[in-house]
Amino acid sequence: MLTLDDAADELEHRHMQELGDRLIAKSVFYNLNDGERSLTHGQKSGKILLMGEDPRLPKMPAAPTLTDFFKYRFALGPLQHLLQSAKLAQKNGLDEKIVLACLLHDIAVAGFIRADHGYWGAQLIEPYVDEEVSWAIRMHQSLRFYPDESVGYEYPQAYLDMFGADYQLPEYIQKDYERARNHKWYMSARMICLNDLYSFDPSVVVTVDEFEDVIGRHFKQPKEGLGNDNTPASHMWRTIMRPANAL
Ligand SMILES: [Fe+2]
Ligand SMILES: [Fe+2]
Repeated sequence: MLTLDDAADELEHRHMQELGDRLIAKSVFYNLNDGERSLTHGQKSGKILLMGEDPRLPKMPAAPTLTDFFKYRFALGPLQHLLQSAKLAQKNGLDEKIVLACLLHDIAVAGFIRADHGYWGAQLIEPYVDEEVSWAIRMHQSLRFYPDESVGYEYPQAYLDMFGADYQLPEYIQKDYERARNHKWYMSARMICLNDLYSFDPSVVVTVDEFEDVIGRHFKQPKEGLGNDNTPASHMWRTIMRPANAL
């Protein structure tokens, strides 16, 4: 009969991935995503845990730029969503700052975390952009659930499909919407929603290089590289770079 300890070891083993002589010790968060509350620490395996570069992922330059994260880390679907939304904002003649906000609005979904993505995304870029850009990205999370007839924005059909017709908004979304509605930058966050392309054309491929100038003018790229700098968000960039580090 399995003891509790054996069962825990077995579960742990199931979660561990071997990588040559290294083990990947997954964070609790990854396992929570699978509906399991466990930490795979791998200490009884006798193997060394992965620390440093992850050989399964594309190698990143020593001083990575925002563009490098687009090229080497972000998932391709959300990546095109970001690029095509920014392109639409550009076509609609919006201010470059708003084009940048559209380019980065779902950066959390593309490279980090889906839950509360507007808040995580804003936090990630906050030290490097104008305050209006990160504010707009934070607030698009709540605004997108609310129509605004004055600019022709309706509740997205995609949300009916994704969350069902009876989905109830949590209180913090309602409260943030109220806060945003009366804010001087309301329209900036609203413009993100308006240029948020759900049904993008899969035959069109936009590259991040098309936005090199906009990024250059409006994103304060640290010379030592994102993650190697010293801001309240540096650790987040490092985690995206090396997401499976054991500690
Ligand atoms: Fe979003
Ligand atoms: Fe989006």
